[in-house]
Amino acid sequence: MLHSKLTQGLVCPACYTELDTAPTALTCKACPAAYPLRKGIPFFAEPPVRQGFDASFHEEAYGGTSARARFYNAVKQVITSEYSPHDTLNSFLASVPQNVVIVEFGSGARRIRPDVLNIDLFPTPNVDLVADIEHTPLASDSVDCVILDSVIEHVPNPAGVVDEVLRVLKPGGKLLCINPFLFPYHGYPAHYCNFTKDGIEQLLRRFGTVEVQTHQGPTSAIVNIISEYAGVVVGRENRTRYMIAKGALLALTFPLKFIDKLLVDRPESHRIASMLSTVAVK
Ligand SMILES: C[S@@+](CC[C@H](N)C(=O)[O-])C[C@H]1O[C@@H](n2cnc3c(N)ncnc32)[C@H](O)[C@@H]1O
Ligand SMILES: [Zn+2]
Repeated sequence: MLHSKLTQGLVCPACYTELDTAPTALTCKACPAAYPLRKGIPFFAEPPVRQGFDASFHEEAYGGTSARARFYNAVKQVITSEYSPHDTLNSFLASVPQNVVIVEFGSGARRIRPDVLNIDLFPTPNVDLVADIEHTPLASDSVDCVILDSVIEHVPNPAGVVDEVLRVLKPGGKLLCINPFLFPYHGYPAHYCNFTKDGIEQLLRRFGTVEVQTHQGPTSAIVNIISEYAGVVVGRENRTRYMIAKGALLALTFPLKFIDKLLVDRPESHRIASMLSTVAVK
């Protein structure tokens, strides 16, 4: 079964023509492209094979596919450097009217609200369609809001993704982009870049308005960096040692992150913020 929001309005990402629905594929009405349906999910891209230190671990943790992954995810709810004093994502969702089209680009396995359409390169649970967010099957000017949370650093061509967001958003449509700045390397499947405030403003310069604020503050950044430092010093590419060392430092230091409530609104906080968030209006 296709997600109900998807049965109308999808286009061929190669030529932007409407698609026909056949039992096993969506086929383009204009070009020879055909996109397979697997367990009801349309695949507009073939997920790459994940490799390396981060890949297998994140695949397991993200999919919640084993007891240890579920244990890890439960512990991570509490022992984490992540803290958003402005509760950026929920505040953004609360500001958006009901019954509009919201798409999360690079959703992973989460669904932030039942009405949000999820796109990801990997068919993890909750993904409605598998596509490369640089070439989505969404019609031009058809979407009210796009969410890019912790994703822009994972694409090799961030400007191409921004072009795609600008294409699919309606005039006046909004982008929420949350990106790391002083944040350690992490895979999913690769991690290409972090952006400063100036960098993100430059990337989103073709939007009408762009407002950047600190999403996770300087103390989160320090907690992350010393935890990662412990992992690197002790771990040396042995995942178990790495996880124990990093986890121990994190467990000792994570409550410090609440100091960021006092820092997040200082104009200078972006200089050493862990993460930034930007609302941009087309
Ligand atoms: C760090 S995770 C963030 C997931 C989710 N937005 C969150 O904040 O929990 C990055 C996600 O982007 C996805 N991703 C990376 N490159 C992508 C691409 N080119 N097209 C679609 N999804 C991509 C990854 O598969 C992964 O699920
Ligand atoms: Zn086509």
